[in-house]
Amino acid sequence: MEKIIDGELLNIPEHVAIIMDGNGRWAKKRLMPRNFGHKAGAKVVEQMCEDAYNLGVKYLTVYAFSTENWKRSVEEVTGIMNLLRNYLIDCIERASKNNMRVRVIGDRTALAPDIVDKINELETITSKYDGLNFTIALNYGGRDELRRAVSNIANKVKAGELEPDVIDEELIASHLDTAGIPDPDLLIRTSGELRLSNYLIWQLAYTEFYFTDVLWPDFTVEDLKEAIRYFNGRERRYGGVK
Ligand code: FPP
Repeated sequence: MEKIIDGELLNIPEHVAIIMDGNGRWAKKRLMPRNFGHKAGAKVVEQMCEDAYNLGVKYLTVYAFSTENWKRSVEEVTGIMNLLRNYLIDCIERASKNNMRVRVIGDRTALAPDIVDKINELETITSKYDGLNFTIALNYGGRDELRRAVSNIANKVKAGELEPDVIDEELIASHLDTAGIPDPDLLIRTSGELRLSNYLIWQLAYTEFYFTDVLWPDFTVEDLKEAIRYFNGRERRYGGVK
């Protein structure tokens, strides 16, 4: 989709994935606890859903909690989980207002039962909306997602439902948590780190990467536009030659 942004005709990425990094450093700079940064970060997520959609983005996927984040202090993990709990409750109303479809990817088996119930409710209620497709990666790890998909496929083979020779890329993709969601066109990571941190490792195979030093709680629509302008300067070849 093409759109004029600040007087410039830009190709808008259909799917933007974000690693929201730097909440802890943002809080530290203010001599506040890390969870203060996560709270500010959660507010930015809400704003970004509106801004991205207004710019013409159709899919937005954010990394809220990784399979590795359990290693953080109990205080921090509890803080993030409480933040997510409240976010999921508020989100039902906000999604209805904004016509937003919400999905959650990741392994739910380790999440608190009340959080799982809220996720199920939110996904069911918002499945009829056709505005922004917002996906939250929660207890998500790219390797773990592949492990679960492989195990699922292996069980189908064992049960005689699937022949091993029909396993192609499309079949694998359809067993991932992101089944039905197109691969991201643009990945944004904030706070100056140049790592993938186990995020969407299958889906990001041909994605353009944009890194910025801005800390996530400081990220604004202007930073998103900058990332989109960067995306427009890249030539996507998908392994071919132009
Ligand atoms: C990375 O910053 C951020 C996280 C691990 C948590 C992200 C969570 C949120 C923004 C809030 C909840 C999300 C939603 C969808 C409402 P960091 O803690 O690694 O920061 P640092 O690198 O500066 O320490």
